[in-house]
Amino acid sequence: MSFLILEKISKSFNGINVLNGINLEVKKSEFFSIVGPSGCGKTTLLRIIAGLEKPDTGRIILDGKEITYLEPQKRDVGIVFQNYALFPNMNVFENIAYGLKIKKFDKAVIEKKVIDILNKVQLSSKINSPVYSLSGGEQQRVSLARVIINEPKLILFDEPLSNLDYLLRIDTRAELKRLQHESEITSVYVTHDQSEALSLSDEMVVLNSGIIMQKGKPTEVYNNPANIFTAEFISHSNIFSKEESLNLLNLEINENQVTSVLQENLRFENEDSSDIVVSDIQFSGMFTEFLLKFRDKIFKSVIPYESNYDVKINDKVKLIIAKDKFKVIELN
Ligand SMILES: Nc1ncnc2c1ncn2[C@@H]1O[C@H](COP(=O)(O)OP(=O)(O)OP(=O)(O)O)[C@@H](O)[C@H]1O
Ligand SMILES: [Mg+2]
Repeated sequence: MSFLILEKISKSFNGINVLNGINLEVKKSEFFSIVGPSGCGKTTLLRIIAGLEKPDTGRIILDGKEITYLEPQKRDVGIVFQNYALFPNMNVFENIAYGLKIKKFDKAVIEKKVIDILNKVQLSSKINSPVYSLSGGEQQRVSLARVIINEPKLILFDEPLSNLDYLLRIDTRAELKRLQHESEITSVYVTHDQSEALSLSDEMVVLNSGIIMQKGKPTEVYNNPANIFTAEFISHSNIFSKEESLNLLNLEINENQVTSVLQENLRFENEDSSDIVVSDIQFSGMFTEFLLKFRDKIFKSVIPYESNYDVKINDKVKLIIAKDKFKVIELN
């Protein structure tokens, strides 16, 4: 039985469709991500789940109860935003305690709960600090603590890590996953960053122009893209047309199909008679990215650094791909 169910949610603004019949189901305690490019409708969908926006059509069911038109404060749903949204005039303790004070919890109980949660987010030493004195990562942990302390049925995350720099984002991501796991609060997480969705989620959906392109576990979506959009957006896969499949991969497919190959599965070797030329080699630390040009199209191969390919720019190469690494995608 699903804990959160969205049925045929649609929404348009000024006659423009932003969400088109979204159906999704989230299980209790699950970490569920919605990933898609800027403008695809992620925030709008979260706002509809939170009650900050009304859908034009469709229903939302949370914990067995329809909440489509219920006021936001009656939904028992917490939100963590990208910009932290803390109260600037309050210190860390006051920010986190705020929700419990409103609910008229006993002072001693509030204090104990705040101390507990600050331990969990590893910010005990900052209990009396004004929020402006905290770093971005610390502020985001306070905003998470402020939501978790209320033990909502559901937490919605709207790109909570995108204001943090790369290393902090990776750290905070791991922290977030640990806290969600411990608290077991069902979570819906919105991001445009596919690696974030892949690493955090139990289940995920790929959203494009208000339409769900694919649902599944991260490994399923990554390894078995159902369409070109998912193949390119989630794994930056190489897409071969019918003609390219035949010429370059020696693979026969029909007019309504393409072949998708992950960058890390695309291998090559020198072949002077080939029509494929190495057009660029980009070293990025752990990996080297080879751009291979065939007519006016570029294919990408990503190779772990230590594998030490002996290939130079302008070399001619042929592709070598293991038979089980092709994914044939149906066009429709
Ligand atoms: N209140 C509104 N009035 C008019 N248009 C809106 C409104 N809210 C959202 N939109 C439009 O709906 C589309 C989807 O917006 P939304 O904020 O849901 O995208 P998003 O996927 O969250 O994008 P981003 O990754 O940039 O945050 C955009 O074209 C946006 O301009
Ligand atoms: Mg958004």
